Amino acid sequence: MNDTPDADWDPRSHQVQSDQRAAYDAMRETCPVAWSDYMQWSLFRNADVTRAVLDHATFSNAVSNRLTVPNGMDPPEHTAWRPIVEKYFTRSRVDAFEPVCRGIAAALIAAAAGPVELMGAIAHPFAVRVQCAFLGWPDELAEPLRRWVARNHEATLARDHGAMTRIAGEFQDLIRDTIAARIAVGATPETDVAVALTQETIHGRRLNEDEITSILRNWTVGEIGTIAASVGILAEYLASDVGLQSRLRADPSLAGPAADEILRLHGPLVTNRRVTTCPVEIGGRRLPAGARVTVNWVAANRDPRVFEDPDVFRLDRDPSDNLLYGAGIHVCPGAQLARMELRVFLEELLARTSAIAPHRPATPAAYPASGFRTLHLLIS
Ligand code: HEM
Repeated sequence: MNDTPDADWDPRSHQVQSDQRAAYDAMRETCPVAWSDYMQWSLFRNADVTRAVLDHATFSNAVSNRLTVPNGMDPPEHTAWRPIVEKYFTRSRVDAFEPVCRGIAAALIAAAAGPVELMGAIAHPFAVRVQCAFLGWPDELAEPLRRWVARNHEATLARDHGAMTRIAGEFQDLIRDTIAARIAVGATPETDVAVALTQETIHGRRLNEDEITSILRNWTVGEIGTIAASVGILAEYLASDVGLQSRLRADPSLAGPAADEILRLHGPLVTNRRVTTCPVEIGGRRLPAGARVTVNWVAANRDPRVFEDPDVFRLDRDPSDNLLYGAGIHVCPGAQLARMELRVFLEELLARTSAIAPHRPATPAAYPASGFRTLHLLIS
């Protein structure tokens, strides 16, 4: 039993940043509940991550003073807010959005034949255009959104709290100006999700500006960063496995399950945070009340205790073991939307090409991002 917070690892070290998956796999096997001065406690084993996300009374989501709707909330507040968010991601909304999403994927892929740096040419534009289209916003808003997400990531990595506060303020300005401009050009709750949020009510009153901004920030960070990382991871995996390309071209109905399994092997979202509400023992270590805890989805989804041959792509696994979209009360409400977007991307990529191959070595993305910073492929 060890309750002394020695620094077990450094998440900023070159070794971690150059190959996050290998580093997190090693931590899971050698020090599954680890302390660092950068992020305090990290959980790497599937059982510990699952326990933390299911036990929301002990592992609270109220990790920050900043309003985060709904991810930074616990019940009963979270219970009241969650349905307001969920209704934007229903099956019928996702189905209605699919042709728009397919059009965006098809146009980007058609423009990218030959040698291509896929992150810049397809992954980031796809994520940001899909997000704009889903909100009902014009394409001109894609670039300011993309820049905001990139700067937010940099400030998060640097743990630069001043910059993070400034960037959060800029996002609020962007959202306020955008909603006003959208209403001025005649956008309605039916055509614009942000305008629709201005009509929502909680506890018998309209949502205020901070709450609307917070909801949209949660979707924007969730959507743009993670979808772009996912697109890169899927394309790189296909480029490395010609057999899988043929299999999916022959049977496109496998695209959805294949995306979930590839993203289990190489998680696009690295962590989420919790804070303990009381002293707790986990993985043989004692954490005090108020300890900051990070659940590591990448390591948990590659845990050999749950996934036999964790490095092997297999479509016969139990999908309910896959923690890609989380578990418990905070499970991703955008999962149906994300799954549709990634399936459509894969279907279009495979249907519009006959070969996808590596061109130059890829550069990995640094935490808090996952996947690739650059990804040079040959597409024909
Ligand atoms: C591949 C893409 C995505 C992945 C892997 C992903 C993964 C996750 C995970 C693991 C959580 C749980 C976080 C926690 O337990 O603290 C989560 C929550 C959330 N996700 Fe996603 N997500 C994706 C896409 C999206 C999209 C497209 C949206 C919306 C546009 C979205 C919106 C949210 C929101 C609002 C929450 C917080 C829910 C709550 O706290 O109740 N995500 N996501």
